Amino acid sequence: MSERTQRSRRHPRESGTRVPLAWLRRHAIPAFAGMTGTGLAATLLAGAAIAQAPPAPPPTTLSSRSGAAGGEALFLEHCASCHGENGMGTGLLARRIQPALLEARDNLPAQYVIVAVRQGIGNMPAIPRGEVSDEELQAIAAYLAAGPHEAAQ
Ligand code: HEC
Repeated sequence: MSERTQRSRRHPRESGTRVPLAWLRRHAIPAFAGMTGTGLAATLLAGAAIAQAPPAPPPTTLSSRSGAAGGEALFLEHCASCHGENGMGTGLLARRIQPALLEARDNLPAQYVIVAVRQGIGNMPAIPRGEVSDEELQAIAAYLAAGPHEAAQ
């Protein structure tokens, strides 16, 4: 390698001059230019994959379980927004209880459910009678106490 080539590879700022466009073309731009073709395509595809993460599963609602009736239907109506798959309640309960889905539990006494709903528990606000009547809550509690329910899986 000649003395002249070696000097030209040195960053121009070392010699106190401004970075000339010619230097950038020779040393910086080829790093990206070399990515045209598969390298660049792979980079773009990776970016697209991040931007298009798979959509979250649809929320559990009354309409997603058309056969639901009684306590199950009331649970879907009043509780599933938080206690369905990916619900906020499910996420918080997962920190201390498995399974986190209330419908998948086999250890929820009806009375515990009623007290939790009327008084609130942890991050769950109390739900008043105007929203869920005593009869409705009885039905929901009996449904959860009879779990685990297959529909939750
Ligand atoms: C606004 C969201 C929200 C709604 C609506 C909601 N919950 Fe909750 N629930 C939570 C959260 C959050 C927790 C976890 C509380 C904590 O541990 O901090 C929880 C916890 C519970 C627990 C305690 C479980 C345990 O093992 O300690 C029960 C029982 C419960 N919910 C029943 C119900 C029922 C029944 C309904 C419907 C009538 C309902 N929740 C509606 C958010 C909700």
